[in-house]
Amino acid sequence: MYRFASFDEPILNRLPQKRVEVNPEIEWVPEKLRRKTPPNIPNLEEQQVVRHFFRLSQMNYGIENGMYPLGSCTMKYNPKICEDIANWRAFTDIHPYQNESTVQGTLQILYELEQMLKEITGMHAFSLQPAAGAHGEFLGMLIVRAYHESMGNEERREVIVPDTAHGTNPASARMVGFDVIEIPSNSEGTVDLKVLEKTLSDKTAALMLTNPNTLGIFESDILEIADMVHDAGALLYYDGANLNAILGKARPGDMGFDIVHLNLHKTFSTPHGGGGPGAGPVGVKESLSKFLPVPRIKKEGNRYVLDYNYPHSVGKVRDFYGNIEVCIKAYVYLLLMGRNGLKEVAEISVLNSNYMKEKLKKSGFYHLPYRDLRKHEFVVSCEPLREKKGVRAIDVAKRLLDYGLHPPTIYFPLIVKEALMIEPTETETKEDLDRYVEALLSIANEDPEIVKEAPSKTPNRRIDEAFAAKNLVLTWKDI
Ligand SMILES: Cc1ncc(COP(=O)(O)O)c(C=O)c1O
Repeated sequence: MYRFASFDEPILNRLPQKRVEVNPEIEWVPEKLRRKTPPNIPNLEEQQVVRHFFRLSQMNYGIENGMYPLGSCTMKYNPKICEDIANWRAFTDIHPYQNESTVQGTLQILYELEQMLKEITGMHAFSLQPAAGAHGEFLGMLIVRAYHESMGNEERREVIVPDTAHGTNPASARMVGFDVIEIPSNSEGTVDLKVLEKTLSDKTAALMLTNPNTLGIFESDILEIADMVHDAGALLYYDGANLNAILGKARPGDMGFDIVHLNLHKTFSTPHGGGGPGAGPVGVKESLSKFLPVPRIKKEGNRYVLDYNYPHSVGKVRDFYGNIEVCIKAYVYLLLMGRNGLKEVAEISVLNSNYMKEKLKKSGFYHLPYRDLRKHEFVVSCEPLREKKGVRAIDVAKRLLDYGLHPPTIYFPLIVKEALMIEPTETETKEDLDRYVEALLSIANEDPEIVKEAPSKTPNRRIDEAFAAKNLVLTWKDI
């Protein structure tokens, strides 16, 4: 029998006689506080629990399973080192009420992240506080309101959004009390300058725009648009959700935008979806920096301090300093990529999107509306497929599940009928892009009845979404 060098006794004799109780009686709990009946919870072995959750995890689909081309959502692969570093106890164990002298390293990271975002966007100052893109828009709109109030322009109650805008844009403007004016795009899929000119007035507070827009088309008239908006006394707001397309190539600050929000959980590599957590930092030009939320992180000599002394600040939009872990992941990502790496993100994401677009366009089943060249994402219409075979965008999306692929965004932007909005991102290989295109082409050639019945290979079949929406069950019921 095996023996330790320094012991004569067999090692097994030193083990306890009884199997160790993982959940022993807690003797020190006073008798009157102890429960009389056992809790009504499943009594399972560890292995059963592990198998249960592992099986559930396999029923899910994430970027680790395969391509996830959810247009407008930038579901790119996130390097694991970003997660690992954000999980260091040096970050996870700090408390927001800790004295700032004891969290100098974290403050330094946040400060430096702000500096990097300033350079990337061409803005003057940043707040990392908002917890999502839409939250950043909300803060941006609060700043628009504070700016006009400070100028005595209370009558500026209108925010203009193009019809390609993400739904959160009008919602955020409305939440801050603005009236939303939607303007139609021109035949190129971009802002119609004539319509914009007619819409701008002394009631306009801001124009909200993303560039490239949600069709993946770059607004090449942006400098003229900026002049028109500023001449009308309004501000220009940049929805930075599509920044992936222009990283290191063009800066919203140089295009004339006054306020931007970024989605760190898209462009700067934090898992996105499932409700967060995210980070939607907001950057502003110098004249607006006094309105940013407090506290602001300042560098004084070699020290970093939290400065609350901004009397014109719109106040806090989130408790403490924002989703710090997400900011740390973005910081690590920026260090990993470096200046040239960021440019490559833009180049490859645009190349991938145009590669797929070309292949699909040629098929005759997927129509490409508007002009040809796209940025990081493109929108095709399934109208030809609907006309020829009665197959709609929703059917194509559901059938992709049977191919083991995640569908793209569908029916958005609203101005394209039967829209599939595809954003491959820069992190996919040519083989994966080809596989996805092949699946879309194969679906187009399939028996339409099979496609309309899809999915047939997933744990859940197609659900009646209207029924589900009208009969919401939000709590677990043991039936
Ligand atoms: C163009 C655009 N703007 C804003 C948002 C809102 O961002 P978030 O989901 O982080 O609130 C999104 C999200 O998908 C988007 O695609």
